[in-house]
Amino acid sequence: LNVTLQVDASNTTGRPIPETLFGIFFEEINHAGAGGLWSELVSNRGFEAGGQNIPSNISPWSIIGDKSSIYVVTDRSSCFDRNKIALRMDVLCDSNSCPSKGVGVYNPGYWGMNIEQGKKYKVVLYVRSIGDIDVSVSLTSSNGSLTLASDKIIALASDVSNWTKKEVLLEANGTDDSARLQLTTTKKCSVWFDQVSAMPVDTYKGHGFRNDLFKMMADLKPRFIRFPGGCFVEGVWLGHAFRWKETVGAWEERPGHYGDNWNYWTDDGLGHFEFFQLAEDIGAAPIWVFNNGISHTDAVETASVMPFVQEALDGIEFARGDSNSPWGSIRAAMGHPEPFELKYVAVGNEDCVRPYYRGNYLEFYNAIKNAYPDIKIISNCDGSSQPLDHPADYYDYHIYTLAKDLFSMSHKFDSTSRDGPKAFVSEYAVNSTDAGTGNLLAALGEAGFLLGLEKNSDIVGMASYAPLFVNTNNRRWNPDAIVFNSSHLYGTPSYWIQQFFTDSSGATLLNSTLNGNSSYVEASAISFQTNGSDYVQIKAVNFGDKTVNLKVSMTGLDSRITRVSGYKKKVLTSTNVMDENSFSNPEMIVPHESLMEMHEEEDLMVVLPPHSFSSFDFL
Ligand code: AHR
Repeated sequence: LNVTLQVDASNTTGRPIPETLFGIFFEEINHAGAGGLWSELVSNRGFEAGGQNIPSNISPWSIIGDKSSIYVVTDRSSCFDRNKIALRMDVLCDSNSCPSKGVGVYNPGYWGMNIEQGKKYKVVLYVRSIGDIDVSVSLTSSNGSLTLASDKIIALASDVSNWTKKEVLLEANGTDDSARLQLTTTKKCSVWFDQVSAMPVDTYKGHGFRNDLFKMMADLKPRFIRFPGGCFVEGVWLGHAFRWKETVGAWEERPGHYGDNWNYWTDDGLGHFEFFQLAEDIGAAPIWVFNNGISHTDAVETASVMPFVQEALDGIEFARGDSNSPWGSIRAAMGHPEPFELKYVAVGNEDCVRPYYRGNYLEFYNAIKNAYPDIKIISNCDGSSQPLDHPADYYDYHIYTLAKDLFSMSHKFDSTSRDGPKAFVSEYAVNSTDAGTGNLLAALGEAGFLLGLEKNSDIVGMASYAPLFVNTNNRRWNPDAIVFNSSHLYGTPSYWIQQFFTDSSGATLLNSTLNGNSSYVEASAISFQTNGSDYVQIKAVNFGDKTVNLKVSMTGLDSRITRVSGYKKKVLTSTNVMDENSFSNPEMIVPHESLMEMHEEEDLMVVLPPHSFSSFDFL
């Protein structure tokens, strides 16, 4: 099959692509945050996972010892008002009768803690006791047989008769990615624990983000980050929605909550503040999605929605207010006196069809525009096929479908009116059964769609894949872009496709026309600057199973590129379109780069292998 791409490379006929076109969407789903990007190793650190109920759900904590040596129960005696549950441990044995390694409790973290030799781990806990205490704080192998690091907390009864904060710094003398934290003793006592945290000292800038996962995200050079959901923001019930005020301030005082969409507890260590810090660290514009009084099951009618509106205004003030403002002062006390640059908010998630949305939306819209006229507001209603019936700066557009259907949606926005608000394609992915757990076919379907978004970027302002992360031990949504466990990670082909678009935001879209006899090919041409030099980049997807010969004919290559000596070719493909990366073969499908020579006067003649995505950067 032969196809020609006619490119007008002169910048004067090109069109600027928005600076924010490609970004990421971070949702607390699949343990993306708790047990993922947030480096806290202890799961259910406050013993609160049962909510405010007694007996609470202390899972995944377990007891070391039998009933003749230890009795463990929860009660409501914590010193923290918003999370009253504490763990009480009655040690019935003493140094003569306890097992030599002691009795106590252990926490396996999120399917095992990753402990690395030579690295340091800070353990913080709150303790109270009747009687003197001598507690070993240890990181051990998964069954406790091997100690990787250990220290002791020893105190007289008089010093711990009230709740007392204790810290130990452990340095690991071995590596184990399924380790656990143990609190053990051979001293007869009644001791209470609460808010037990273990964090690696080495996190991104010390801000608590797991380094390898952070890097993987940063490598996408996202221009925005949408957070914290998704359905996570809505809740199946409002009582389980993410409410930002419960997630700020000292970590010990946060109540945590059960996210009922994805069915797991989070201690909310990754809270409202940390999301803004993440955006700043990654150099992406924060896009905050807040609850608009609507969940999947219940909703607050418009006449009663003002408390939610005030909550959103307060959340904006938390991010943007100066450090003397009521909520800005809390941000400042958390270590960030300067405001965060919040310019975009989304009123809910996928709620357009739900009762009260339009009424509620307008209350939020008017209040926010009144207080912060520069903030861009994103509606949940789709304006791609008909005009919105309410004011908005962007409308949210989500699409999950078959690979072939998403591929053909590369023309989805071709005929969208250019008059209304811009589209924010905040969630797109191939998620049908033909996507496996993230295969090449899915990625190529997305590639066609992305080329279409790039070409329609006069009306599509922003786009992000969903979901970004999955902890392989608790896959709540499939497929995802980055797969990880406690110690390893890999990108699915969908992740690598996104990397092909990292030069697009802020680039110039060049006029190009594709001629030929393959409906399985889509292509685009852009020019961009890096380190003061201009580059022209062609991207092309071959979704079909036949080799395609692509001829690129370029006009208008003016003085910006004085001499075309060759090009950098990057190709993503595999022998079978259903192939996937895996922990055992994480780089089976990754882009392969090569430098090719060519002469200035020649047209570019390239081969697009069956089922492939390629880019060509002219040098
Ligand atoms: O990305 C997974 C989910 O898909 C999001 O939470 C929701 O917005 C959509 O339905």
